[in-house]
Amino acid sequence: MALLPILEFPDPRLRTKAAPVTVFDTELEQLVSNMFETMYEAPGVGLAATQVDVHRQVLVMDMSEERSESHVLINPRILEKSGEQVYQEGCLSFPGIYADVERALRVKVAAQRVDGTPFELDVEGPLAVCIQHEMDHLVGKVFVDYLSPLKRSLLLKRMEKKRRQSA
Ligand code: NI
Repeated sequence: MALLPILEFPDPRLRTKAAPVTVFDTELEQLVSNMFETMYEAPGVGLAATQVDVHRQVLVMDMSEERSESHVLINPRILEKSGEQVYQEGCLSFPGIYADVERALRVKVAAQRVDGTPFELDVEGPLAVCIQHEMDHLVGKVFVDYLSPLKRSLLLKRMEKKRRQSA
């Protein structure tokens, strides 16, 4: 396994649209295990392949305290969504900043496992937020896109300041 470098905003590669996965091989398994290692090490609760500069429709998540509920979604697509919720989101591509984003409360998603087996996932609450956030990455969208221009520029300034302080 290996840790992968995570792209940070405003890296233009974060705007890339990921292509569907068509080959389910050991290289894909390796990518998924490296993404888990990278996400757990960061630490984060979700990571899209886009964030590690691999532009294929792959995402990993684990929102459990014990790091025991891992999810891999290959080629995910939303079948149904309902309700709404506001949740404070962060992102490994935006170190140190958080913002409230409104999303669907519940989502039903179709995806494939790492071996290509199709499955469906019906979730609500924080995991539904995470899925929607990570799926956005696969189409080149990031969570600050949902904020007002003023809120966004304040947050990005704060992120730059923290980046300079830690440099
Ligand atoms: Ni993110």
